[in-house]
Amino acid sequence: MEQDRELLITKTISGTGIVYELTLHREDFSACYPGMQRYVVEAAAQGQEPARFITNTYEYSPLLPGSAESAARQVFAVWEVGLITDPAAIFREYASRPHPAMPEEVDLLILQGSPRPDGNCAILSEWALEAAREAGRTSRVIYPHDLDIHPCIGCYQCYNMGTCVYRDDMDEIIAAVRGARLIIACSPVYSNTVPAGLKLVIDRMQAYHAERALGGEGRPGLKALMYSVAGRRGRENFTCVTKVLAAFFHTIGAVPAGEVLIDSADSIRDIRTIKGEEEAVKAQVKRHLRG
Ligand SMILES: Cc1cc2nc3c(=O)[nH]c(=O)nc-3n(C[C@H](O)[C@H](O)[C@H](O)COP(=O)(O)O)c2cc1C
Repeated sequence: MEQDRELLITKTISGTGIVYELTLHREDFSACYPGMQRYVVEAAAQGQEPARFITNTYEYSPLLPGSAESAARQVFAVWEVGLITDPAAIFREYASRPHPAMPEEVDLLILQGSPRPDGNCAILSEWALEAAREAGRTSRVIYPHDLDIHPCIGCYQCYNMGTCVYRDDMDEIIAAVRGARLIIACSPVYSNTVPAGLKLVIDRMQAYHAERALGGEGRPGLKALMYSVAGRRGRENFTCVTKVLAAFFHTIGAVPAGEVLIDSADSIRDIRTIKGEEEAVKAQVKRHLRG
């Protein structure tokens, strides 16, 4: 993502014999979110990975005192002294993290949102997996309910370094999304929306959005399909689920490529009894995995 970068302060510090360039930049991220500004304090010395402190305006919620700019200016002032008295401490804590490596690529990644391993969403997922196998493609299923995923706390710190502040199973899920070619989000309708486990994953994908906004790239041409099963009768039962999943696809930069929405599951009980459904699902998956 393109952003304007403005130099606010620069100082050369050479107290310990090593020459450090200490800078404070303001970066305009309003292309990402309205009015978002990042403040980057950087200490650089020849032959050394720079130390960076980054903060952005979205971190400062209405009741929080201070601002991103005042926090960054404060860090600048502290580093100005620290680079003379104990530069190693600054570099130990703030040396830049390397960008995450591209994981092993997988052709089809399924996020199986139903906590029931033997329900109708599981059947849909199995059909898609079979189609991938038949097409000679690799696949993987993720079951959010079995994983350790902390809820997103809306701290917006992911827009500083491109990663979440929490280290849990989301790291692996994001790595899988990064390497996927086709994603299927498969969700039962729970209280008109997606179940809690899948919602955790969707909200925490903000970190992947941040990663991409900061220049990270996933596998090119990522496509996504939405599958959903509702107990009640009628298309209106998918109004919210389809919006939530569309937002998810937007967040991860996937192109929506189709949907399978099956209602009346409470009376149908087993979607394998719907004539032609399995064939239609498999044909759709194979079409998107071709080439
Ligand atoms: C907690 C809960 C909430 C549900 N809420 C809805 C709902 O709002 N609308 C609806 O059509 N079905 C609702 N259902 C029914 C499920 O969508 C339906 O049983 C679906 O087939 C479950 O998928 P599964 O077999 O893959 O688990 C709900 C089921 C549960 C357990």
